[in-house]
Amino acid sequence: MVDYQKLAALAVKAKERAYAPYSGFHVGAVLLCSNGVEYIGCNIESAAYPATICAERTALVKAVSEGARSFRAVAVAGGKPNANTDYCYPCGVCRQMLHEFAGDDFEVIIAKSETDYRVHKWEEILPHGFGPKDLQ
Ligand code: THU
Repeated sequence: MVDYQKLAALAVKAKERAYAPYSGFHVGAVLLCSNGVEYIGCNIESAAYPATICAERTALVKAVSEGARSFRAVAVAGGKPNANTDYCYPCGVCRQMLHEFAGDDFEVIIAKSETDYRVHKWEEILPHGFGPKDLQ
């Protein structure tokens, strides 16, 4: 069973690590591996703007480079500090990169807080995605 509330709390906490001096938009993510290990990530911006990496991809590259390949869920929290922002959904690039590793049971938690979050199946986030199966 996935502990949605725990993942929501970890994503909100990971937001504190955001390095976002240009947008002021702080994002935190946590990726839950099928074996229960969690990897957190934050967005890291660059003075050369396009070099920025999103929180979801930070978590993903940390996990994959440590040998993880099988994931159960990702939680994301984002917004401007002290502002009443909307739910923060993954950008298109992050959706595509997560799709590479998203199994049939992969779920997405979009959190505003530890208690205010939405849960989605992966197919709702990236319907008809292009992935490894298409190259077989
Ligand atoms: N950002 C993320 O980290 N994840 C998302 O899903 C959306 C956008 C970051 C990138 C950039 O640092 C800032 O939010 C504004 O786009």
